Amino acid sequence: MTTPGRFIVLEGIDGCGKTTQLQALHRWLPTSGLMPPDAQLVTTCEPGGTVLGLDLRELLLERHGAARPVPMAELLLYAADRAQHVAKVIRPALDRGDWVICDRFTGSTAAYQGYGRGLNLCWIHDLEIIATGGLQADLTLWLDVPLAESCRRRDDQLNDRIEGEGAEFLDRVEDGFLELAMQRDWVRVNAERPVADVTKACRDIICTALETCGTQQQSGAITRCPSSGSSTGP
Ligand code: TYD
Repeated sequence: MTTPGRFIVLEGIDGCGKTTQLQALHRWLPTSGLMPPDAQLVTTCEPGGTVLGLDLRELLLERHGAARPVPMAELLLYAADRAQHVAKVIRPALDRGDWVICDRFTGSTAAYQGYGRGLNLCWIHDLEIIATGGLQADLTLWLDVPLAESCRRRDDQLNDRIEGEGAEFLDRVEDGFLELAMQRDWVRVNAERPVADVTKACRDIICTALETCGTQQQSGAITRCPSSGSSTGP
């Protein structure tokens, strides 16, 4: 399914540096000359890229004890977040010819709910098509860091419900990302290096993958997203 805009996704385990790279790309892309002169850049995330999604994010990540969703409910809530996000933010932006960078997309559901929770990968695939209407990223960058390094980076942070699932769960998620990267033609970025080197690698990959006609500088729009500290949104 083609659209006039371009859709870039960043994937990876918690602590891989997605949010930092997203912010660096948000600053660079509008000035890169890659985007058409009249295109805006929309930076967003899952879960939580819409007003409804912010509520779903809280249900997904902050509910403990009796309010904790069972794995199937968790899967369906991520799908609901994605359906709203695609319909309200991503698809309209792409149809306008804007560019979208998204912190996590369908790959995260396959990695966390599929490989991590052990839910049926065929159901997850079907649900992915239902929630996205078949929309796929033009380019997925997989920021690859070993689990031990990602845990070290998150050491002093408060874990959300998924991050706190424990080593075996996160091990399965890590293996899932590797498997998915091969199946889905993601581009692997070695994210164990210094931040500036990772940013340069991401830029080089985007330049190679998404050559377009743009030449002028643009100002970016950024959607409300708690994990990227962004400012405006739906
Ligand atoms: P994220 O916002 O990237 O985490 P952070 O707050 O560290 O920036 O993602 C929130 C959590 O949601 C993360 O642990 C991964 C999880 N997740 C899933 O389990 N399935 C999904 O489909 C998505 C999009 C995220």
